[in-house]
Amino acid sequence: MKFSKSALLTFAVAASASPTKRQSPGACPSPVRLDASTNVFRQYTLHPNSFYREEVELAVQQISDPSLAAKAAKVADIGTFLWLDTIKNIERLEPALQDVPCDHIFGLVVYDLPGRDCAAKASNGELKVGELNRYKTEFIDKIAEILKRYPNTAFAIVIEPDSLPNLVTNIDQTSCQQSASGYREGVAYALRQLNLPNVVMYLDAGHGGWLGWDSNLKPGAEELAKVYKNAGSPSQLRGIATNVAGWNAWDLTPGEFSRASDAQWNSCQNEKLYVEKFGAALRSAGMPNHAIIDTGRNGVQGLREEWGNWCNVNGAGFGIRPSANTGAELADAFVWVKPGGESDGTSDSSAVRYDSFCGKPDAFKPSPEAGQWHQAYFEMLVRNANPAL
Ligand code: BGC
Repeated sequence: MKFSKSALLTFAVAASASPTKRQSPGACPSPVRLDASTNVFRQYTLHPNSFYREEVELAVQQISDPSLAAKAAKVADIGTFLWLDTIKNIERLEPALQDVPCDHIFGLVVYDLPGRDCAAKASNGELKVGELNRYKTEFIDKIAEILKRYPNTAFAIVIEPDSLPNLVTNIDQTSCQQSASGYREGVAYALRQLNLPNVVMYLDAGHGGWLGWDSNLKPGAEELAKVYKNAGSPSQLRGIATNVAGWNAWDLTPGEFSRASDAQWNSCQNEKLYVEKFGAALRSAGMPNHAIIDTGRNGVQGLREEWGNWCNVNGAGFGIRPSANTGAELADAFVWVKPGGESDGTSDSSAVRYDSFCGKPDAFKPSPEAGQWHQAYFEMLVRNANPAL
């Protein structure tokens, strides 16, 4: 972080009087207190963050077709989450907090557990199994410090996509067995440290094609609830995030895979059903059960050969815009969590993080490393957006 000398002096003076609080211009005049027993998305609009805005603006400059460029430019104004996926990338947060108006909520994903992405390769992270202490002190604590310095800004946080769901369904894999205790303790630590008045938290719960199988609903809910309770049942946890970086439709009936031979074993053929049924299981397990649903890239259905295909699905389009009008009691909001245009994983089969899912016939190729900007994919999402841009 860069401070000029005089800024440092002011900082020191302020710090001796009271803990340094910063405020973005236009932020609320007083501390935000979010009531996680209510749907805060009724009160706040998901903030279109400046990091994604810059990615989109650069992308627009590369589009020569003026009508496509005009549509693409609109994406910059749509609320999208910011991913903190490495210790280094925490530096993306503070600059992005400088333009958050009082009626906006800033969406943040924390994603850096040791042994990350244990059942796949594309998003394997920087921290190795066993580096839980670094996760706590260099990642979660640093993020918590920033959130405390911006008490007048509201935050919605998605906690560690895929982590606990992997422990439910992929625990037969050695890598997930090795990651398990670090995931449980790391998620509980994040829930405790980020349990701040200006924050609501949603714990990742996979999607209907994952924990929605009849035999996964109860163990899935119990896995999440156990971690929630180990974290001291934090008041600011509102429930779950579903379909993060996923492709499932909200309420398509019958669901996309409802004619598959194994469909009889899954009663959550769309995310609406999943939110209801997994929500009921969470309630029995004793955990708050409201949900936000990632609709960022689910505009086009019928593209995947199999439900489990997750990598850069070819033919996809931007989906339903962020909104608190979901029509379902347990569903707080449709949100864009995965920033459309950032890759899910590389299609380069010689890369260390190459995952065979990114080489499947229904995956877009070529594709860069996970998280990298993927211009051709972004343009496709714009073209195929539903509703249209
Ligand atoms: C990647 C992250 C990235 C995130 C959002 C994940 O698949 O592993 O690096 O930040 O997607 O694009």
